[in-house]
Amino acid sequence: VLFTPARIFTHFNPLYQIITTILILFVVRAFILACARKHPGALLITITGVFLVITAINDILFLSIPFNDYDMTFLRHIIRTGNLSSSGLIVFIFAQSIVLAMNTSKAFFQVEEMSEKLKIADKQKDELLASLEAKVKERTLELEESNKRLKNAYQNLSLVENSRKRLLTNISHDFKTPITLIQGYIEAIVDGIIGNKDEQIKYLNLIHNKIISLTQMTNELFELSQLESRQTKLNLQKVSISNLMAKVESKYGYDVRSAGLDFKVDLLDSLSGFVNIDVNQIYRVFSNLIFNAIKFTREGSIILSCRLSQDNAIFEISDTGLGISNDDLPFIFDRFYIASKSRNSSLKSSGLGLAIAKEIIEYHGGSIWADSKHGCGSSFYFTIRLENL
Ligand SMILES: Nc1ncnc2c1ncn2[C@@H]1O[C@H](COP(=O)(O)OP(=O)(O)O)[C@@H](O)[C@H]1O
Ligand SMILES: [Mg+2]
Repeated sequence: VLFTPARIFTHFNPLYQIITTILILFVVRAFILACARKHPGALLITITGVFLVITAINDILFLSIPFNDYDMTFLRHIIRTGNLSSSGLIVFIFAQSIVLAMNTSKAFFQVEEMSEKLKIADKQKDELLASLEAKVKERTLELEESNKRLKNAYQNLSLVENSRKRLLTNISHDFKTPITLIQGYIEAIVDGIIGNKDEQIKYLNLIHNKIISLTQMTNELFELSQLESRQTKLNLQKVSISNLMAKVESKYGYDVRSAGLDFKVDLLDSLSGFVNIDVNQIYRVFSNLIFNAIKFTREGSIILSCRLSQDNAIFEISDTGLGISNDDLPFIFDRFYIASKSRNSSLKSSGLGLAIAKEIIEYHGGSIWADSKHGCGSSFYFTIRLENL
């Protein structure tokens, strides 16, 4: 139309129209395919597209029939109008803009939906991570706990094992002497070496005493063994130190005084303190220390005192007795240790009292020690952690 003269263009017009028709048919085919594939809005586009094609064909036909061709009068009667294709085009474009608008808003909705879903997924992810973290923490704690329990069990087992070994050694070593003695006495009586009845009674009494002290030793040793292996359970109670001291004074005051000794109780600044203790076990410690003091003090006094130092209450039992030599001092808390000086004396000894006291104090988390100047008396100290009210 633009580059050829009207005569030539008119000449090629039918060819042009055929090509246009083919192209239109090709486009219609594309519409139908889109419909079959259910593309959104394809149906509307196809209907309006087909409408456009019909109007275009209408226009072509209308314009192709010459006015003076009477053979075509009938056809022209059907195709009354020309230039319908512009209306068809408007409808088509309008339909396209509707579909475009629909698709765009749909896309917006989808984007919004997606971002909503993403938000939820993000939240779920955070929750999952948090719960995973909590689970890992929980499991780690459980593992640490069971590890601790295992360690404790192992320690307890080795404690029991060690104390069992020591118990056996003690029995075979420290019980041998008295049992051999008893055996000797009995053999002497049986063999008639000790024939005199009075003598026999005297030896039978000796045997009896040995058996009593052996029984006591067995009991103490068993108790020590139980304490050492932590098989004895502490019955802990919160008690005020002033109460405890008053009870100790009333419990042992008589024994001290009837041994001809003074008993002084000095509370110093400890009146306000509290300790968490198994009262009966701590009485045993006091009893061991006080009876030792009585045993090794001929005259003078026994002084019981308590003072506070930082987190601890420090109890002290002092006497004005024989004292302990520097050679013996490091060993007096050992099992069966009896200082050389007191060994041959008439005083009854098992050498287990201080070992038991030490075990009880250490079981309470405290410590025990002694101080002495030979000949000038001894002082025994032990600490117990102070309790807050
Ligand atoms: N207050 C004390 N004065 C002098 N020596 C002491 C005193 N307390 C303990 N000892 C010495 O420590 C040793 C061990 O004491 P202990 O374990 O109580 O056994 P035991 O009282 O059966 O001898 C005693 O044999 C004694 O030599
Ligand atoms: Mg003793």
